[in-house]
Order: sequence, then C-alpha cells, then structure tokens
Amino acid sequence: MSEPLDLKNAAEALDAADPLAALRARFVLDDVTYLDGNSLGALPAHVPARVADVVLRQWGELRIRSWEESGWWTAPERIGDRIAPLVGAAAGQVVVGDSTSVNVFKALVAAVRMARADGATGGTGGVGDRTGDRTGGGGPVRDEILVDATTFPTDGYIAESVARMTGCTLRPLTPAEVPSVLADRGDRVAAVLLNHVDYRTGRLHDLPALTAAVRAAGAYVVWDLCHSAGALPVGLDEHGVDLAVGCTYKYLNGGPGSPAFLYVRRDLQARFDSPLPGWNSHAEPFGMRSAYAPASGAARGRVGTPDILSLLALEAALDVWDEDAVSVTAVRTKSLALTDFFLRCVEAYVPDGRVESVTPRAHAERGSQVALRCDDAGDVMKRLIERGVVGDYRAPDVLRFGFTPLYVGFADVERAARVLARALAD
Ligand SMILES: Cc1ncc(COP(=O)(O)O)c(C=O)c1O
Repeated sequence: MSEPLDLKNAAEALDAADPLAALRARFVLDDVTYLDGNSLGALPAHVPARVADVVLRQWGELRIRSWEESGWWTAPERIGDRIAPLVGAAAGQVVVGDSTSVNVFKALVAAVRMARADGATGGTGGVGDRTGDRTGGGGPVRDEILVDATTFPTDGYIAESVARMTGCTLRPLTPAEVPSVLADRGDRVAAVLLNHVDYRTGRLHDLPALTAAVRAAGAYVVWDLCHSAGALPVGLDEHGVDLAVGCTYKYLNGGPGSPAFLYVRRDLQARFDSPLPGWNSHAEPFGMRSAYAPASGAARGRVGTPDILSLLALEAALDVWDEDAVSVTAVRTKSLALTDFFLRCVEAYVPDGRVESVTPRAHAERGSQVALRCDDAGDVMKRLIERGVVGDYRAPDVLRFGFTPLYVGFADVERAARVLARALAD
C-alpha cells in the first residue's frame, strides 16, 4: 500500500505538468470534487452573461427580429458545425435539436428505411463506397434490428418501438457479439444501434471495426455518442459512420437538458427519410405548404421550433473549446491519465476486495469514467457526496466517477479515492 503522501505528491506533479490545467478557471466550481460531468457538465463561467443577453436583449428588445438578426433560425446547423470537429465530422452533417432519445428514434427509423429502400431499388441508392450487399435485390427482406443489450435504457425502449413500427425483430446482444451475428445473418439486418461508451461500465467499444462490420453486411449503423462526444476522438467521417446521435449536457457542458445532436453522413442526407418531418425540416419552411418536401443537408434532421435559450447556452459553452484551441486528442491524453491515476489511488487506499472495477484496464477499451462495483454502492455514494466528492450511483451496485479533463485535476482524483476509502470503511 502506498503512503498517501506519495500519491499527494504525485498528484501535485501531474497537475503542475498538465497543459489543460488552466481551463479549470473557465468553470464555476467550488471546493467540491466534481466527478459527475458524465451526467451534467459544469457551468462555464461566461455562459450566464451570454444567456442574460439572449433573454434581455435578443428576446426582450429585438423580440421576433432575433430569428433573423440574432441568428436564431440557423442556430441548429451553426451549432452543429461547432460540434462537428469535436466528433470528427466535416461541416454540414450535424444538426442540434431535440433530445438524444428523439434523435435515436429519427436515426433508427431512417436507417431501417434506407436499408429497405436499398432492397426495393436493388441498388445502393448512392451509397457508392459500400462494400457489402445493401443491394438486397432478390435477397431476403432486411427485417432485424440489432441493439446493444447493455445500452442506456432509452435507446432500448426506442429500438423496441421502432422494431414494432417497422415490422422488424429486435435482437438485443452485446457489441462483442455483433460481428458474428452479422457474419451469420447479416443479410437480414437493417440497422444496428450501438453505444460508443457504455454508460454504466465506461467500456469503450470499437467504433471503427464495428462500423466496418455493419457496412460490410449491407446494414446501417447508428452510434450513440453521449459518453464520448467531448471526451475522446470519435472520427465519424474517417470511419464511415452512417448516423450518430449524442447529448451535449455531459462533456460538452451545454447545461441541463441542452439539446442533442444528430449526424447524418453527407452522402446519405438525400436519402434520410425522417419519421418526424416537421415544418423546420421543410425545404421551404415559410412556404406553409400542405405537402412536405424535405430540406437538403443537415437541416433535414430538424423537426419543430428550436429551444433557443438552451441552444444558445450550449453555443456559448462551446467557446471553451474554440477560444482556447482545445484539441480532443489532448483531452483524451489527460482523460486516460486521470482514470489511470484514479485506479492507482483506489488500489492504494481501498482494501483489497472492497470494490471491483468494472471499467476495462486497457486504454483502447476505456471511456472517460471509472465504474466501481460494491454491494452497498447507493449508501457509499451518499456518504461520498456528504464529504464533498460528487460522483453518481447506477442501480443496482455501481459507483460511477466521470473525469472531465477540462476541469478535473489530479488532486481531485487523489482526494476522491482517499474519501472513497473512508466512506467504504464507515
Ligand atoms: C448513452 C445515453 N443515451 C441516451 C441518453 C438519454 O438522453 P436524453 O435524456 O437526452 O434523451 C443518455 C442520458 O444520460 C445516455 O447516457
């Protein structure tokens, strides 16, 4: 067992060498050790003044003029273009709006519709670089949806509903099982819904390999990036992802309930047939036509009037990335160092066998959180929060600690492990 002093000194040295350390000052934080940014990101200090301007001047003084003059109407695409580089997408493919749940619905139905359209036309419908047989011409009907069985519940509920609506069979499975199922019966699969990082265990799934396997089978993949956007490189364009969704209130610090994003790869946009075609995604929204004609580009993913206050709070929050030229690669480097250090401190402070890490050791399989299993996790987390260390509890037995490299330091990590050891001993 290491002496606490060693680890305190190590934390001090790591903080002194941290190139991102200065960013912490951009956030409203107190002496609480906040390790719950994987649930709700902290408030960037400049956001309240920006929101006050939106409310008092843009809404209060300019009123309806702000749809044009303050850029409200184009905010979903404009802010999408700010998120795009953080998830490895070129501009014009990300739109912001609605919740992740709603975007999962749009993306998954659209994926099934594209797979079916491929079968009906007997062609790839412009997909072009598809190596698999999305052609479907003469092949079996694509009537299965694969979903991560360990997924955040909302994705599972929505996938079940989409399956019923589209006449598909839903097959829950672990992401590791996806390649073999695709190899076995890939010509029956229309769509696959996966999480980049598991919300409970913090396991990072192999997005490049799984995307390639889904595409080779001629199906469409939808990735849920809630726990990776802003935490690690995603490479949507590089890896040929079809569709992706994610929330903005975790590692992007957009605020409680801030709108989610939807990525539709550029060459699929003309075929993206939204199950929620609202007036905001109409090619001519102010034409007030009774017949629907979809807009081109990312706007096709819009539905109704955007939630301007939340949207513009998110836009302000994203300044942290741009103004300080923060790279996702630097964030990932620090994130891995933070989670490594946390595991090291837990091993040093917590008696053997009291907790078990369910987060993989291998960097290639770890997101930006550490999840520890123990029987009395709910009570332990209450005691931790009383002592100024905020993580969260996920039923039935998981303590979750999220590490947001923009504002979490190594001293926070050492303190959290030390307080955890005391809370476990009580
Ligand atoms: C992986 C994942 N997907 C979806 C959601 C739900 O998102 P929303 O409540 O914005 O619909 C969450 C929320 O934490 C999540 O972690």
